Amino acid sequence: MKKVVLAYSGGLDTSVCIPLLREHYGYDKVIAVMVDVGQPEADINEGVERGNKLGDLFRLIDAKDEFVRDYIFQLIKANGSYEGYVLGTAIARPLIAKKVVEVAKEENAEAVAHGCTGKGNDQLRFDAVFRATNLDVVAPVREMSLTREEENKYALEHGISFESEKRWSIDENIWSRSIEGSELEDPAFFPPEEIFQWTVSQDNAPDNADIVKIEFERGIPVSVNGARADGVSLIKRLNEVGGKHGVGRTDIIEDRVLGFKARENYEHPAATILLEAHRDLERLVLTRNELRFKEVVDQTWSELVYQGLVMDPLYDALNAFIDKTQERVTGTVFMKLKKGVARVVGRESPNALYSADVSFDAKQETRIVEGFSVYHGFQSRMYRKSLE
Ligand code: ARG
Repeated sequence: MKKVVLAYSGGLDTSVCIPLLREHYGYDKVIAVMVDVGQPEADINEGVERGNKLGDLFRLIDAKDEFVRDYIFQLIKANGSYEGYVLGTAIARPLIAKKVVEVAKEENAEAVAHGCTGKGNDQLRFDAVFRATNLDVVAPVREMSLTREEENKYALEHGISFESEKRWSIDENIWSRSIEGSELEDPAFFPPEEIFQWTVSQDNAPDNADIVKIEFERGIPVSVNGARADGVSLIKRLNEVGGKHGVGRTDIIEDRVLGFKARENYEHPAATILLEAHRDLERLVLTRNELRFKEVVDQTWSELVYQGLVMDPLYDALNAFIDKTQERVTGTVFMKLKKGVARVVGRESPNALYSADVSFDAKQETRIVEGFSVYHGFQSRMYRKSLE
């Protein structure tokens, strides 16, 4: 008996994959696995219903805690952002792929499958994890070059129905919401308010600010306004308060792995708040040398994650460096949220490398600095004089 395990989302692409895997690829048993990384409840419910109906076996795996603990927290420590926005979709894919592989092993399946098309980044991210196993990798929608129209027709013939055609293509997890497709493909098109669900517009945000106090331990957020919370609840809480103030919207032209430019819109209030706060705390406790070097590490880390290359040994090596630096990233950051902006207004840490002895107001040993100043810019001066 030929068995395949499919990464299932409940949407059109992955739904048509189920009959395709039987009819065109000859699998006897299609196991649909839906991994819950914090999609909207309605999507999960719909996926569960459809997956049970279509698949020979269906499994829903709640991976929210693991997602936050092993992926989001590491992203915070790495200040993970790509071309100026917080990584969202990219960070969830390796975990989804990992869960699918786990089920394939349990079920003794010979193949794993995903429903990605041949255009985006996600195919590469799934493939990178899938291909690191001995399993066959199948991607029906990509391999058969199906258009949206062909998929809809095929779905209808197989009794797969969707209430309405979705205008936007949305990918959502607990950390980030990404919206693309339709008119948004035109970089000049203004994003309509209806695409946003987590954040109000700057215009509709309240005039009164909120101050949030975030505590970090070893680079990881552990409490908001004095209340300790597990990662999932903490992120939900910050998404709410940040969203209320219109914090965390991104509209960006992004370079995909394949080199195509794409127009993308994102919402990520908690991510914006936590990354601003974390970066600020690092500035208080890490040395100048650490900060300079870590910036390069963080950028390389983010590129690997964007490309889905978390199986690369470099990813582990960078994480080891990052974890070492985070041993001291403990402290509290105060953020002011107002009209779409999250701004740090105060910070403190037992590990601060800040000394009041050399602060602006302190009486200084100016004679010592005078000596330093004599040779400051020495080479530049020599060069300028040579031009005379
Ligand atoms: N461009 C982003 C990425 O590659 C997000 C893609 C999300 N997909 C979507 N259908 N909105 O990570």
